[in-house]
Amino acid sequence: MPLVNTIEMLKEANRHHYAVGCFNVDSLAMVQAVLCAAEASRSPVILSFSAGSREFMHPGNLKALIETVAQDITIPYAIHLDHGKSFEICRACIDEGFTSVMIDGSAHSFEENVAITKDVCAYAHARGVAVEGELGGLDAIDKNDGSHFTNPEQAKEFVLRTGVDSLAVSAGTGHGTQKFRPGEIPSLRLDILKAIKELLPDFPLVFHGSSSVPNDLVAQFNRYGGQLQGAVGIPEELLKEAIAINVSKINIGTDFRLAYVGALRKSLAEIVDRYEPRHFLAPARTAAQKLVSDKINRVFMSANRVETNKSNH
Ligand code: G3H
Ligand code: ZN
Repeated sequence: MPLVNTIEMLKEANRHHYAVGCFNVDSLAMVQAVLCAAEASRSPVILSFSAGSREFMHPGNLKALIETVAQDITIPYAIHLDHGKSFEICRACIDEGFTSVMIDGSAHSFEENVAITKDVCAYAHARGVAVEGELGGLDAIDKNDGSHFTNPEQAKEFVLRTGVDSLAVSAGTGHGTQKFRPGEIPSLRLDILKAIKELLPDFPLVFHGSSSVPNDLVAQFNRYGGQLQGAVGIPEELLKEAIAINVSKINIGTDFRLAYVGALRKSLAEIVDRYEPRHFLAPARTAAQKLVSDKINRVFMSANRVETNKSNH
């Protein structure tokens, strides 16, 4: 089974200037959508679980469930904890068979963040698990002073002192559907990425909050009862520029969920004579798979990076 950690996956992406997509999943249908899209495109991929989705999917069985779904999958994939807020949840996920964890110590002071991240690295690396750290704030739409942006010098110190395998940085992306203020022109601080590249050549950075929140997905979501207002995401062209510098893992939650739930809303509204769940879930899964495929092929450029005849078992 090609379940791997993310260390080589991200180094390889960094070396060849593409990004590995990391998609937030909540259900087996979403897991299937991600794996099938990646398999069809011969792309590595990361299945990402928040603390909430891990609980929902049943922690103890999660790895076994995914490996069963992935039986015919031949591309390398990872099972990743998204925004782990404590050493304890990272340790639990590692013990359950996750191959990658994020320790998000960004709410702490720099020194506390270093300490907790170092502890997670020691536990994870002894067990062959990759660690992503975070430096800077990603829920920063209201911050005007720029203090949430990652400081490149601190990023270097953080990486060297903790031993993390990748680092989530704040350079203008942000979580959710409203990433910029009304009327603001979307932009990214690519200078921060370049400065980090100077200080840490070949080190893979991670972009969170990178959904583009496209109009068609928002329109479909709202047409069938949703109420999303003021949605604005990260333009794909900016993501491509970031990838060309040193962003090697890109997290997508919002776009993936909007594609899935938007299609689900549509089928629930339009199909009135069936009650078998698969009639509603199948179009949602198809829409989610299409979204992943599109990101892989058109934005992240990770398609055809896995040799077809190479055995990953
Ligand atoms: O950790 C998850 C991602 O950062 C989600 O970002 O809301 O832009 O999809 P997004
Ligand atoms: Zn995030």
